[in-house]
Amino acid sequence: MMRIHLRVWRQAGPKAAGSFQLYTAENISANMSFLEMLDVVNEQLITKGQEPIAFDSDCREGICGTCGFLVDGRPHGPDACSTVCQLHMRRFKDGDTITLEPWRARAFPIVRDLIVDRSAFDRIIQAGGYTSVNTGGAPDANAIPIAKPIADAAFDSAQCIGCGACVAACKNASAALFTSAKITHLSLLPQGQVERTTRVLDMVERMDAEGFGMCSNEGECEAVCPKGISLTNIATMNREWWRALLKGRELIG
Ligand code: SF4
Ligand code: FES
Repeated sequence: MMRIHLRVWRQAGPKAAGSFQLYTAENISANMSFLEMLDVVNEQLITKGQEPIAFDSDCREGICGTCGFLVDGRPHGPDACSTVCQLHMRRFKDGDTITLEPWRARAFPIVRDLIVDRSAFDRIIQAGGYTSVNTGGAPDANAIPIAKPIADAAFDSAQCIGCGACVAACKNASAALFTSAKITHLSLLPQGQVERTTRVLDMVERMDAEGFGMCSNEGECEAVCPKGISLTNIATMNREWWRALLKGRELIG
């Protein structure tokens, strides 16, 4: 069993001033997940009549993208290719002090404590991260043959869970890795060809309008991405953007 000291960013609301508060978590098992440790701390705070620490989570299996905050300055904590819900207390030692902060980005305003508003990502997807479909019965799964290497490459990009760690790690608060993953995923597949040209123009325009910064090829996004989304997606997005620009929006049917 461990005693863990926590420095946690507490902020009552979007407009409230925030500050770090100190807490001590007692009797923490090395087998607990990080979020279970926070659950224990919150139960103790509630018992004492204090406000629990607000943080997001849903699946707690590393697949939904809901969780995420900075653990000692690193998005999702010290483990590579992992979400914070998959982080375990065995990664820490008895007596450690751990600092927890929300994602820091203008496009992700703080809602409360460790929770930020990531709806900017939803609006980027709404701008073009979809495919046209005909209404009617579902087509047979094998009606559109797709070569295995292309299906695999599309799947690699489709693994993005929209957590926002890439933005939090980037000194420019760029959303290029997130946006490019969806653009790359759909540009590779036959179903994504209908909106291929407008998609990249509209999603990049929305990304800029939301206040995310430019990509300057620092690579921090790739280093912290829990799904290992590669920087090559950004190169593909840039190629898609130039292709769309040269093709001309006015020529797009
Ligand atoms: S690219 Fe990676 S870090 Fe960025 S939102 Fe997707 S899964 Fe999260
Ligand atoms: S809670 Fe779903 S990825 Fe962490």
